Amino acid sequence: MQSFVYEYATKVYFGEGAAREHLAQAVSGFGQNVLLAYGGGSVKKNGIYDEIKGILEDAGKKVTDFSGIMPNPTYAKVQEGAALAKKEGIDFILAVGGGSVIDCCKIIAAQAKTDRDLWEMEMTDHQFPTEVIPMGAVVTASGTGAEMNGGAVITNEEKVIKAGMAAAAPRFAILDPAYTASVPASQVMSGAFDTLSHAMETYFGKSDQDNVSDDVALAIMRNTVVNMRRLQKNVSDMQARGNLMWDSAMAENGILKVGRVTDFQAHQMEHQLGAYTDCNHGQGLAVIHPVYYRHILKDTRGKFQCFGKAVFGTDTAEDAVDALGAFIMECGLPTKLQELKSKVEITPEILRKVADTCNIISSNPRELSRDEIYDILMECM
Ligand code: NZQ
Ligand code: ZN
Repeated sequence: MQSFVYEYATKVYFGEGAAREHLAQAVSGFGQNVLLAYGGGSVKKNGIYDEIKGILEDAGKKVTDFSGIMPNPTYAKVQEGAALAKKEGIDFILAVGGGSVIDCCKIIAAQAKTDRDLWEMEMTDHQFPTEVIPMGAVVTASGTGAEMNGGAVITNEEKVIKAGMAAAAPRFAILDPAYTASVPASQVMSGAFDTLSHAMETYFGKSDQDNVSDDVALAIMRNTVVNMRRLQKNVSDMQARGNLMWDSAMAENGILKVGRVTDFQAHQMEHQLGAYTDCNHGQGLAVIHPVYYRHILKDTRGKFQCFGKAVFGTDTAEDAVDALGAFIMECGLPTKLQELKSKVEITPEILRKVADTCNIISSNPRELSRDEIYDILMECM
């Protein structure tokens, strides 16, 4: 294990009825003016909005709505939210949604406290926010684990970059599996695949032998696969959704990352693909992962073997990657870039741009060249 400092920022309330039971008390320590942020309207249809707003108002809060946060949230949407938060003198931000709403709010929380352009501050000056509006998260679609970490992934449309930013970590997270009941099956699967990806991406970073972080990552992967299979039989299996909800938080709350470096090259490719295409995050990962893993298989054969044995019951490194590919098909996730919903036609020229702009990781089994990233993306066609 490498040296580490680990601190937990987020208090978690898990279980059916968690908002009804805990939200009023969870927000009680913060100020009166609450920004209630959500996405494109699912929370209005399924009744979550009414329930949350009612709880906040009964708790004596003045609620300001901020709606329309899109999947793959944009930097422009962050600026809109930050301007509203400043104008209304917001004391607390409550994100009600999936990873996109939560991420957007994390950056709004920081942008509302500074007149500097947060993107330039972080990406160019490598300075990070020290003051934020406190925020909390009510998760309505699981998979990213965004509710339990201080990072956010934002698309800067002007610069055509989708990148991770450092921001506010939620002070609390409400995880009620029943709140995910209305999530469409395809999003349930792509969210769960994102969770699997997070655990894999952590596991395949270079690490010393026999560290507990690797063993925990394998357990998360195995459990995610088991529960994704349960949902294939019955998409309304709420126990399986609850199990996946906690897998999601566990995979990205930092616990798997202590004492080690990570890979996350597949994520870097997918994020830049998202910048150009606005594709669904989990679906993009499903296409990229098997192809990327075939490229790096020979660089960490033993780990692929352990992964296959623990997660899919396979013997060889090659079998492990084949099993992952077969599992992706079994879940009805896309296996080719052409199957992704994209705002532009995905062409070799677009993929060259993705390869030329994506982050390159050096803590993965082998650092890739831009040409190899392009080859990987072309093999995904
Ligand atoms: O916008 P609404 O109408 O709410 O619909 C959403 C959206 O269309 C819908 N949805 C959410 N809850 C629902 C529901 N539909 C019905 N019933 C409900 N209860 O689901 C759709 C997708 O939502 P989104 O938040 O975009 O999905 P997800 O949670 O997968 O988040 C994806 C974003 O998170 C980033 C991704 O890059 C992407 O931008 N990530 C964030 C991470 C983090 N902060 O730690 C890590 C990840 O690797 C990831 O990059
Ligand atoms: Zn992810």
